[in-house]
This record gives sequence, structure tokens and C-alpha cells, in this order.
Amino acid sequence: MVDFECPNHILLIGFSGAGKSTIARKLARRYGKVSFDTDIGIVRMVGKRVEDIFAEEGEAAFRKYEHDYLEYLATMDPAIISCGGGIITTAENREMVKKLGFVVLLRVDPDEAVSRITRLDKKPLLNGEKTPSELLAERWDWYESCADLIFDTSGKGTGKVSYELGCLLEDKGLL
Ligand code: S3P
Repeated sequence: MVDFECPNHILLIGFSGAGKSTIARKLARRYGKVSFDTDIGIVRMVGKRVEDIFAEEGEAAFRKYEHDYLEYLATMDPAIISCGGGIITTAENREMVKKLGFVVLLRVDPDEAVSRITRLDKKPLLNGEKTPSELLAERWDWYESCADLIFDTSGKGTGKVSYELGCLLEDKGLL
């Protein structure tokens, strides 16, 4: 792994449907920052859709691509980064996420998360044998272990979450 100075990014982690991508874009717009999305970055880097990477190369390969993309983000100026929901499932990625900056865990109830997702067929792990609640329970300790801040999004739209979270990060001198 490359060694690097902390680039002071703000990273959003959490389950699919937590609103990470939209909130990252909204925060970036409001504070004049650049936003990145690890799923979009990987699709561009690999030249395949996320669901095709899972189907053709498997989850472990996807996690490795996430790691490669995080290494690329280590070279960028401070930005807002939306991380794929399963990025915290490998020790290497958890270590990288924590080194890249301030990590916000967007907490969401699994049923609410699923109801927010419009294309479930694009989320390979939500179509697997585990229910969203089981997956979230399995991952919760990993999410918590990476988080500098936990923000509950339950019952709130992305506009409200990004506004409140922005104010909180501003108060902390991070935005
Ligand atoms: C995944 C979540 C997805 C995407 C991939 C795997 C997961 O990202 O990275 O389908 O393991 O939970 P979103 O959290 O943006 O849906």
C-alpha cells in the first residue's frame, strides 16, 4: 500500500439507500468542493458496470478495485467522497477509509433503505441470500469502527440530511 499524508477528505459510509451519493453531491455544491463516488469511479476505471464486475469477477475483485480507487483518492485535494456500502467489509479498505479523512456514517433503517432504492437489480448483494437486515447487522461493527460521526437519516430526505450534516461539519471546522 502507498503511504500518504491524510488528504482531509470527508467520507460518507453506510448501507445502500442511506443517501450517500446524493448527500455528497449536495454538500460539495454548497461548500464549493469536488465530490467523488467510489462506484462511479470504479465503473470508469474498470470499464464495466458494478453488477457485471460482481457477476464476472466476484466480490473479492470488486473490493480490490475499491482499494485501488481509494489509493487514487489519496492523491486528490480535500473532497467529499461517497463510498460504496460494502467498502468496510475488508480490513484493507477500512484502514484506507480511516486514513483518508473524517468519516461520517449515515445510519438508515434497512427497510427504509430498500424502499429508497429504485433499481434493486443494480445492487448484487441486496439480491443475494441474505436479507438487508442480516447484511446490515453483519456489517454494523465495521461501519462503527470506521466512523468519526454517526448521523441518523431515518425519516429524513437528502435535502434535510445534507443541510443538517453540513451545519454540523461546519461547526466542527471541517467545512
Ligand atoms: C454494495 C453497495 C453498492 C455497490 C455494490 C456493493 C454493498 O454501493 O458498491 O453494489 O456491498 O453493499 P451503494 O452503497 O452505493 O449502493
